[in-house]
Amino acid sequence: MVGQSLRFNGIGKNFPGVRALSDISFEARPGSVHALMGENGAGKSTLLKILGGAYQPSAGSLEIGGRAVAFKSAADSIGGGVAVIHQELHLVPEMTVAENLLLGHMPARFGLVDRGAMVRRARELLRGLADEIHPQQRLGSLSLGQRQLIEIAKAMSRNAHVIAFDEPTSSLSAREIDRLMTIIARLRDEGRVLLYVSHRMEEIFRICDAVTVFKDGRYVRTFEAMSELTHDQLVTCMVGRDIEDIYDYRPRAHQGEALKVQGLLGPGLQEPISFTAHKGEILGFFGLVGAGRTELFRLLAGLAPSKAGALQLCGKPLTLKSPRDAIAAGILLCPEDRKKEGIVPLASVAENINIGARDQHVSLGCLVQGKWERENADKQIRALNIKTPSPDQQIMYLSGGNQQKAILGRWLSMPMKVLLLDEPTRGIDVGAKAEIYQIIHNLAANGIAVIVVSSDLMEVMGICDRILVMSEGALTGELAREQADESRLLQLALPRSRG
Ligand SMILES: Nc1ncnc2c1ncn2[C@@H]1O[C@H](COP(=O)(O)OP(=O)(O)OP(=O)(O)O)[C@@H](O)[C@H]1O
Ligand SMILES: [Mg+2]
Repeated sequence: MVGQSLRFNGIGKNFPGVRALSDISFEARPGSVHALMGENGAGKSTLLKILGGAYQPSAGSLEIGGRAVAFKSAADSIGGGVAVIHQELHLVPEMTVAENLLLGHMPARFGLVDRGAMVRRARELLRGLADEIHPQQRLGSLSLGQRQLIEIAKAMSRNAHVIAFDEPTSSLSAREIDRLMTIIARLRDEGRVLLYVSHRMEEIFRICDAVTVFKDGRYVRTFEAMSELTHDQLVTCMVGRDIEDIYDYRPRAHQGEALKVQGLLGPGLQEPISFTAHKGEILGFFGLVGAGRTELFRLLAGLAPSKAGALQLCGKPLTLKSPRDAIAAGILLCPEDRKKEGIVPLASVAENINIGARDQHVSLGCLVQGKWERENADKQIRALNIKTPSPDQQIMYLSGGNQQKAILGRWLSMPMKVLLLDEPTRGIDVGAKAEIYQIIHNLAANGIAVIVVSSDLMEVMGICDRILVMSEGALTGELAREQADESRLLQLALPRSRG
């Protein structure tokens, strides 16, 4: 199969009330990495689901090596030499890594699963990608990034000719991304066809040879030579307008202490942490994956018990025994893994947005409540530009990025004094990022202390007034906006031997 290209011929896909794709035609060549780009809801995942046999196209056909192929099921697609790594992971948390990797083709001896062979085979599959993961570990004990690596290893184990990645790096650390890039380059050099979906520009320019842009389910254009394409051209093509400065930073006056943290210790923290976030301030926490930032956030949101230290909110002592205490005090945490921790798949978009605020409005009458909820859902859908046919659509039918935005909308619907945002723009397209940054600025301008954890250097430098850096469970430095640059931040973030 090596040397054969993949063609999409006039592919269309309709869902009830939604035309997800119409008349998509382009070719992806062997020995090249072909990016698919477009805003949240543009239709990228839908196309990959058709390729993976999960959906049937409403119109058009696929060709591999000039021959028409029709995949009626995932098994058909696998049999046709295709591997798709979907945006939503399809792994079983209760099983081990090896069982997940070899599901469906476990090595057997005398009718029994051969555990030894299974572990050996799993280890081979993980080589170079995730050597540190043990095949016998329960999948549920792995981080989101590690699970993503398992999904990738699983797809690669099939030795497919066409391999499609749907936002594979959304929860990977910089080091894991490097490893994945090396592997993708090898697969490309072996003459396979690679499709790559990501909202991260640096990755597109780093690894891709060609890029096809979609907008609202339609084909816009294909750039065959990345070297002739600039970052701005690509953004303009995707969003349909120029975005000059997505951060649009405006200095604000701070108005006294909001959250004061003194000597805080707890799970995941190696040294006591002290800092103060001010009303109207956007405070960033930068660090590498595993630096302890998410753990710190969990302590501040009452999700984990602290071992030592004291908190003050607006000058008053604060004790957090549970997340309820934090929410009641006005400290909200919008978690990193928003979907896993937050989504109610069968409920409507409106319901998903209003769930958190509902508890705060129990005193309102039913009618008033219903009206407030309808207005609030409309408001969030508009403010975050959530692409949905209606507020009543079940959220599971929204694109990945639009689900993320709806969950963000839930947190923005609740009264707050301090907002803890963990990786606020993961999986979100460039246009929508600019909108989210605007929202963060407006919250701060209204006196809220916004604390942002992000692994995206440009984002941290772009939106924050001040940046605290963490490494290995400890604070390693503080930089004012003017002092922050890439090398300083990275220097502070890298693990070091502390005396
Ligand atoms: N099963 C479904 N039922 C109804 N509508 C759907 C279904 N799957 C996708 N859609 C709709 O089709 C459109 C395209 O969605 P898709 O998931 O392909 O977008 P995407 O480009 O992958 O976006 P993102 O960047 O957010 O992941 C969206 O409007 C989405 O709501
Ligand atoms: Mg998608």
